[in-house]
Amino acid sequence: MSYTANSARYSSMQYRRCGISGLKLPALSLGLWHNFGDVDIYDNFRKIIFKAFDEGITHFDLANNYGPPLGSAEKNFGIILGKDMRNYRDEMIISTKAGYYMWQGPYGEWGSRKYLLSSLDQSLKRMNLEYVDIFYSHRPDPETPLEETMGALDHAVRLGKAIYAGVSNYNAEMTAKAYDILKSMGTPCVIHQPKYSMLERWVEGGLMDVLGEKGIGCIAFSPLAQGLLTNRYLEGIPEGSRASKPHGFLKNSQVTPEVIEKIRKLNSIASERGQSLAQMAIAWLLKDERVTSVLIGASSVSQLSDNLAALKNTGFEKRELQKIEEVLKG
Ligand SMILES: NC(=O)c1ccc[n+]([C@@H]2O[C@H](COP(=O)([O-])OP(=O)(O)OC[C@H]3O[C@@H](n4cnc5c(N)ncnc54)[C@H](OP(=O)(O)O)[C@@H]3O)[C@@H](O)[C@H]2O)c1
Repeated sequence: MSYTANSARYSSMQYRRCGISGLKLPALSLGLWHNFGDVDIYDNFRKIIFKAFDEGITHFDLANNYGPPLGSAEKNFGIILGKDMRNYRDEMIISTKAGYYMWQGPYGEWGSRKYLLSSLDQSLKRMNLEYVDIFYSHRPDPETPLEETMGALDHAVRLGKAIYAGVSNYNAEMTAKAYDILKSMGTPCVIHQPKYSMLERWVEGGLMDVLGEKGIGCIAFSPLAQGLLTNRYLEGIPEGSRASKPHGFLKNSQVTPEVIEKIRKLNSIASERGQSLAQMAIAWLLKDERVTSVLIGASSVSQLSDNLAALKNTGFEKRELQKIEEVLKG
């Protein structure tokens, strides 16, 4: 069956400016790290993508290595895009990245110009696209000069193969340097993609300040701590969950009684707010206006719907925030 997008798709989503750039992103974006590879079910992830777009999620985040196998999420996304969504390309922000292991030999990971530019060409081929909207350096490379890595991003933008440049997993100091180098080349660093959730708050130790000062947008990845910040693991590790899968990045050893106790307490605070825990975890990130978008994953349409409903209640009373802090510190 062919796909026609919901005509009311822009009626309820909020769009937030990405730093000081001209780009606006939806408050919720969809990531294809898990659940969109060849190991997953095509019909299921196709429906997730349609649901997302129908609800105003215009931003789809990929990377060269998403799958498994490596590259298959881009390939699958490209098939869906080509078959069903080609007419909507100009309404979409599609990102990809290079930095982690992709192919063997010295040019298949990290931050050389050789790797980044070859990988971008491969990504475009897999997705059957002429350009991506955002191309990221996926992680800093301690051995390659930052000028070279940023030079590759700048070149990708100049070639028209990417519209914007971004960095991911860079600390505060390296982000400031990356920003300065890109600026000197005439290509702004528009966005940073860090891991950020109630359970992972390293960005609060300086990175968010750099992003605010420089006017770089922030898209927070793994906002639900890969599913921990939901009701998913309250009764153990269910069959089919990320922690149950051999290729899942959430290991069952991370689902500890201590974490679950915290989750239970957070879950009660969320219930008092009339929200699911997933919704509260998303709202908690959006309270900081420097966070442009919250980059969720979902393995079903119902999870996506649950997460979208977070946008109905993003305000917090001081006493609620205090209660959350107590649980997180405790
Ligand atoms: N730049 C980087 O280095 C980097 C690294 C990691 C991720 N990312 C990006 O961030 C995106 C999101 O990461 P993530 O998948 O870890 O995000 P996440 O939103 O923290 O976790 C998503 C997982 O949580 C569970 N879930 C989601 N909504 C739920 C709900 N309402 N109720 C119950 N469970 C729910 C699902 O797990 P089940 O599968 O168990 O159902 C889902 O697969 C990735 O796709 C990728 O685009 C970037």
